[in-house]
Amino acid sequence: MSDFIPLRELLDEPRPLPRKTWPKLIRLLRARKKRTGEAPVLLHGNGDLQRGLQMRPKGDLSLVAELRPLLDGMHRADLEDATWQDRASQADVLFGRLTPRIRIEPVAVTVTGWHPLITQEVRDAVVGHAPLAAMRPVDAAVLVHELDGLNLGGHLLAVDAPVEPGATLPAPPRDRRGGPRRRGDGSWLPNVDAVGRWSTTPRHIADAHADVLQEAGVRTVIDPFCGCGADAIRFALAGITVHAVECEPGRAAMARRNASSFGVTDHLTVHQGDGVALLPKLLAENPDAAIFLDPPWGGAEAQDGTARELRDWTALLALGGPNFVVPEHAPLLLKLPRDFAIDTLPEGDWVVDWHRGAEGSGAERVIKTISALRR
Ligand SMILES: C[S@@+](CC[C@H](N)C(=O)[O-])C[C@H]1O[C@@H](n2cnc3c(N)ncnc32)[C@H](O)[C@@H]1O
Repeated sequence: MSDFIPLRELLDEPRPLPRKTWPKLIRLLRARKKRTGEAPVLLHGNGDLQRGLQMRPKGDLSLVAELRPLLDGMHRADLEDATWQDRASQADVLFGRLTPRIRIEPVAVTVTGWHPLITQEVRDAVVGHAPLAAMRPVDAAVLVHELDGLNLGGHLLAVDAPVEPGATLPAPPRDRRGGPRRRGDGSWLPNVDAVGRWSTTPRHIADAHADVLQEAGVRTVIDPFCGCGADAIRFALAGITVHAVECEPGRAAMARRNASSFGVTDHLTVHQGDGVALLPKLLAENPDAAIFLDPPWGGAEAQDGTARELRDWTALLALGGPNFVVPEHAPLLLKLPRDFAIDTLPEGDWVVDWHRGAEGSGAERVIKTISALRR
């Protein structure tokens, strides 16, 4: 990080301290302990000192300005001089206030800010199995790193892992930083292009979409933004008749090839064209059809809950362009990014599900998408 300035560098302003300052500081503290019986706050040995000097100071930087004059001339101090010993002790106290202790005892963690529609089962899966009331500090640090500020359904999670003043959680290990948040499941279709690779609905989520439509008794569905066809194919595999539309000719051709390789061409028709323009005609021809919407939210970052733009109902309609109208009479299934503001869905009888990464993918704890069915 560019603004990382270790304490040692800050103390070397306006001119470097003589190297002998540091061993002398430790020896003065030892001499003082012998005289008064009082142990240092932080600097018990050279290891503590070196660790403190490498750290970025926390809190009020005016403490650095207080510390520096205490160290001036210390390299020449007489070890038996009580005044110098007390100055070393003041320096030790300031070190303690500037450099946090790494917490090693268990920490009580709380996670708040859940969208009320997220079930306890999903919450437990997202948080993981470690007991929140007494978590290993390193696990707490990972949880803070992964979940604090994560936008799920338009609500921000807050992870609180309080430690006593002067202490801090350890840094989350590199290999546990943010990986699963972004990890994809890969595509299960034989033919995909670059867009298809990140936008294909993972198999287990496409399964869930098909189950939802089947349970709602849907016989025909229109998928105006079908991409390489994952959801459309899964609907067809469930015996639902599908009218799918894809505007990119190459991708529409891939969707057709995918439909062939799954043997569902009798149930699935892929139209190449503008799904928004074709929707009224397809609905007129199939008046009982449901509509499935998975419009493009703009790249892999669409699945990143930290993305800034508001993803809500108005934004969803805007993705379809100025002529996009979602008919109210048809059952509607939406596939939404996990940060979609669920509260902005229009009035209606909505069933909302939170979909996690596939079992065994390493992303089981991550909410990937939300689906919302208006019956
Ligand atoms: C998120 S992807 C769909 C992924 C699909 N559900 C799957 O799982 O394979 C959205 C697709 O909509 C297409 N698209 C965007 N606007 C469109 C429009 N007006 N008409 C038809 N397709 C459109 C994009 O080219 C993209 O392939």
